[in-house]
Amino acid sequence: MTDQIFYPHKELFPNSPIRNMCEYDELVEKFENDYEGTWEAFAREKIDWYKPFDRVLNEDDAPFYKWFEGGELNVAYQCVGRHLATRKNKAAIIFEGDNGDQRILTYRELYYEVNKMANLFRNQFDIKKGDRVVLYMPMIPEAAIAMLACAKLGAIHSVVFGGFSAEALRDRIIDAEAKLVVTADGAFRKGKPYMLKPIVDKALESGCESVQAVCVVERNGEEIHWEPGRDYSYNELIKNESVQCEPEIVEAEHPLFLLYTSGSTGKPKGVQHSTAGYILWAQMTMEWVFDVQDNDTFWCTADVGWITGHTYIVYGPLAAGATTVMFEGVMTFPDAGRAWKMVEEYQINQFYTAPTAIRLLHKMGQDEPAKYDLSSLRVLGTVGEPIDPPAWKWYYEAVGGSRCSIVDTWWQTETGGHMISPLPAATPVKPACATFPLPGIKAEVINPDGSKPEVGEQGLMCITKPWPSMIRTIWGDPERFKKSYFGDAVKDGKPVYFSGDGAIVDEDGYITITGRTDDVINVSGHRMGTAEVESAIKKHPNVAAVAVVGKPHEIKGEGIFAYVVLKEVPVDKRDETAEDLEMVKEINAIIKQEIGAIAMCDAIAFVPDLPKTRSGKVMRRLLRAIAKGDTITQDTSTLENPAIVGEIEAIVSGG
Ligand code: WT7
Repeated sequence: MTDQIFYPHKELFPNSPIRNMCEYDELVEKFENDYEGTWEAFAREKIDWYKPFDRVLNEDDAPFYKWFEGGELNVAYQCVGRHLATRKNKAAIIFEGDNGDQRILTYRELYYEVNKMANLFRNQFDIKKGDRVVLYMPMIPEAAIAMLACAKLGAIHSVVFGGFSAEALRDRIIDAEAKLVVTADGAFRKGKPYMLKPIVDKALESGCESVQAVCVVERNGEEIHWEPGRDYSYNELIKNESVQCEPEIVEAEHPLFLLYTSGSTGKPKGVQHSTAGYILWAQMTMEWVFDVQDNDTFWCTADVGWITGHTYIVYGPLAAGATTVMFEGVMTFPDAGRAWKMVEEYQINQFYTAPTAIRLLHKMGQDEPAKYDLSSLRVLGTVGEPIDPPAWKWYYEAVGGSRCSIVDTWWQTETGGHMISPLPAATPVKPACATFPLPGIKAEVINPDGSKPEVGEQGLMCITKPWPSMIRTIWGDPERFKKSYFGDAVKDGKPVYFSGDGAIVDEDGYITITGRTDDVINVSGHRMGTAEVESAIKKHPNVAAVAVVGKPHEIKGEGIFAYVVLKEVPVDKRDETAEDLEMVKEINAIIKQEIGAIAMCDAIAFVPDLPKTRSGKVMRRLLRAIAKGDTITQDTSTLENPAIVGEIEAIVSGG
């Protein structure tokens, strides 16, 4: 099956901007021959500048690259305001609630809502250009409106995923020194209300001196605490605000937003994105990779708390003038046909989700797609982790009717938008393969010294030229930015961006991503730093040492597997004793409190010690292999404590 090549059904894509591999090659060559000139042409064509830029790329302070210097723009104008001339009555956002209630905002209505919220931020909360605003929001239109209201004012938003705990939220508020927190009482999930505001209350209990106000959107109507002088009702205050609002025009490099993501150390990184370069690529990839046409309805199932939600629910679709669907609920509620019912009802043309969701929908409702009319679909996207061939096949056949183009899009929080992906009208696809870099993106698989690995050999997935939507820095830590991304690979004497992923190029030049090469786990398409989970687990008073690794998981892709050494409880011949089960519960409760339920362990093995080198480094590779159930072939005799390997194997295989 993996050798088979699937060709696009070209009749579905008569108006695609890149219609065949000839056009793809031509565009790639154009960028090869005149990198800056080609970017310049796209930037002038796609962005409505208030003031045009006078320099395309400034590399003087590499890797702190600057794009489109001298240019001035406003992203709310690019995404909403400018569309009033041509599509004021077109649906911008189609919202579907957990219980099926619907709300449609046209571009005109969205324009007014963004202006009102921006006025509220400006007048009531004194939000100015450069101020940081943390959004801790459910999947409701106000999340997108708040993001755009920040953009309107040149304020920098930092959306924190609603699944993160009070501790995690607090760390992010403190790191960004946020002035305002925007949240909701809560929302609905699987037919029941859930709460967000109490988590904000808890986060603000200590250390968040920068926060002057909390703006609360009322969504589920549940009882919440109102802190006088700090908490304000959005629903009340918004009534007084005008629908007209002067935008703050910002420079091309002004930060549009921060988004925290996990790295290989304990502290999440505040990935800082720019205004012009980011919005340019968000819009271009919407057009190239998803082929959104004017009458299309686009649905990305991500949460706005992740980069996928930023770029492909809010910024990309709206910059492109498309209709974007926003869904509050979960795709398996009330049954595994929910997503397909929505595709039928809204006549969705592009559907974008994660392999973990595809596997779950496949498992829970293999025959569900056949019950609905899915003939509107043309493009099916996947993102977040490698997709396995069986999931790919079901997606292609059962959902896509063996007709749709599947775009396996490889990118990251740091890249802002797609880097490697098929083009729906052009690229012959090998299943479960991200295929080729997009035109303009110099994505290359190389060795640390810049040489090319042999065909079929794994190398480092690097991007060897700066690109407009790239991360600009890590908020407050430029040194970490340099070290995290520009320390592992060098090409032509220059440090190049390394993604942290490994990849393989086959004999036809197709790129397959093999996964992270660092201590980062990919759980359900979300990045989880092992160090973060470990430092949470270490807070348990009875934990002496811990090592966390990823273990292949049927639905999640990778699950979290922890090896824990206890301080007091005897550990010889442990199996699932009552004490152990109690410890598992306690450890997971701590993780839930420190990070959030998404980081809870799938399995914990209580072991007498961890395998260490003589210099004291924990041998994670070994622990990964044991978790996976592989036979250990590597030489363990040089370990500080070689006997422990067999003991751990016995515990894991017995448990
Ligand atoms: C990591 C980035 C980009 C949005 C969602 C996750 C993995 C992403 C693919 C893909 C194989 C993929 C990589 C990457 N990844 N897309 N199509 N095939 N792996 O964003 O949290 O920044 O994670 O997700 O490992 O480094 P993120």
